[in-house]
Amino acid sequence: MNLQLDENGRLRHLLTTEGIPRELLTRILDTAESFTGVIGKSVKKVPLLRGRTVINLFFEPSTRTRTTFELAAQRLSADILNIDIATSSASKGESLLDTLRNLEAMQCDAFVVRHSESGAAHFIARHVSPGVAVINAGDGRHAHPTQALLDVFTIRREKGAFEPLTVAIVGDILHSRVARSQIHALMALGTGEVRVIAPRTLLPAHIQRLGVRVYEDMDAGLDGADVVMMLRLQRERMRGALLPSEGEFFRRYGLTEQRLERTRPDAIVMHPGPINRGVEIDSAVADGPRSVILHQVTNGIAVRMAVMSMVLGGGAETAGSGREEVAS
Ligand code: CP
Repeated sequence: MNLQLDENGRLRHLLTTEGIPRELLTRILDTAESFTGVIGKSVKKVPLLRGRTVINLFFEPSTRTRTTFELAAQRLSADILNIDIATSSASKGESLLDTLRNLEAMQCDAFVVRHSESGAAHFIARHVSPGVAVINAGDGRHAHPTQALLDVFTIRREKGAFEPLTVAIVGDILHSRVARSQIHALMALGTGEVRVIAPRTLLPAHIQRLGVRVYEDMDAGLDGADVVMMLRLQRERMRGALLPSEGEFFRRYGLTEQRLERTRPDAIVMHPGPINRGVEIDSAVADGPRSVILHQVTNGIAVRMAVMSMVLGGGAETAGSGREEVAS
């Protein structure tokens, strides 16, 4: 059963980019594009989700995702509540399901969920009442679909079509829910070539089955790339010694200005954040002219507006009418 699409192929929940067809991905990106106009206006609001309630339920820390979901909900005129898990009754032993049931009893319409366990968002989606939507804001190593969507949205805005592009994803692929979600989205959108570059210890088994090319040598993997997507070393998810040292990792896989010369002259540099400067990326590159890292953050608002409006019954069509109502 496909939990996240309804019988008409519309988005009911957003749990993963895996299995989302190209047409629907494109519709999400087009809807996000329509919202970028709203974000640039002095009155940054459309009434699309007026009267709807969204709950941010973050069991793991976040700066970008939580804040941009909050801003996105506010731009759509929804009410949004942030549950502080550290001070919630979860700390007294209340189960996830009981937490959900109680929040649902407050008549909320959607949950945005981040959790350390892979599969947590699917679990919640299976247990919410009909009509309540779940958006995965990152579950364990599994998926971070809105991050991947804002990444492909940024690539489309910077580069246009996906077909001619070579995208290199570099670093801790093994623990990265972002990389997995990016690969599914990039493949579905018809990206010319998707490469992953990492030491063998940080590569998932059978990653080639997703259609990517694997490189252990960074210079070879960067050759001719149009997009370089750097990833954070996820120390909090590592068990055992997978790396000799951070210094050694930077020497072999850190993105420096010198290494960037292997890519195309107009290649862009991306990173989902948070950045570990001097571990996976040099500051001169992160803050340099080819970096679009902060554009990714800005684009996250429009993409999360698109996803929220779609799962809550708005869509590209209503996005247009709502925007006009406010802008006129
Ligand atoms: N990229 C990302 O998920 O950042 P946060 O952990 O700050 O939300």
